[in-house]
Amino acid sequence: MKLIIDNADIEAIKNVYEYYPVDGVTTNPSILAATGRQPYEVLHEIRDFIGSDELHVQVISGVAEDIIKEAHRIVAELGPHTFVKIPCVPEGFKAMKALVEEGVLLTGTAVYTPMQALLAAKCGVNYVAPYINRIDNMGYDGIGVEKHIHDIFKNNNLTTEVLAASFKNSQQLLELCEYGIGAATVAPDVITGLVKNPAITAAVDDFRRDFEKLTKPGKTMYNL
Ligand code: E4P
Repeated sequence: MKLIIDNADIEAIKNVYEYYPVDGVTTNPSILAATGRQPYEVLHEIRDFIGSDELHVQVISGVAEDIIKEAHRIVAELGPHTFVKIPCVPEGFKAMKALVEEGVLLTGTAVYTPMQALLAAKCGVNYVAPYINRIDNMGYDGIGVEKHIHDIFKNNNLTTEVLAASFKNSQQLLELCEYGIGAATVAPDVITGLVKNPAITAAVDDFRRDFEKLTKPGKTMYNL
């Protein structure tokens, strides 16, 4: 499973990249708005930092012709390995079909139902991003929808992968990883939450204390 950071705060991104094995960054208009900065300024900074890793950037327009223009600008600005996120609505499908023909990398977003995902996959997008938390909040089973979409793709030999999005917690991430979901985009605090456990910290501290009892405080295997 690819692990992608769902954030546009460059300091948060740098911090996660320093410590964790991650594969890229996703953004959406709300995430960009949270930075309070100009969108392309932030996105260029992220691209420069992550190099050739995946960067997902969402369009704003509601009409296919304008979505296509946005996609061209996004790719021209941010280069290869940039995925244009397009909402899975009728104008979005129209734009997806044209952009797939051009070879533009695409992520179908704002996915709440398997039917949206199926149509986007048939348009030929690389990923679809179903929103777990938002589906849960509508009274449905977000994790179940992710699995359902994954099964539809695999049973129909569709090459589109699920990019699970809108997580509440780290356990959801593990459950989808076990199921074989292709990718997950999660906020930095959900990634760090994967190993936030007092028992782990205590075990590591105990090992260090025992070693220092044998040697001296500050001693390690390199400075004995
Ligand atoms: C990713 O593609 C989505 O834009 C994002 O994960 C939505 O997350 P949220 O429901 O926490 O806003």
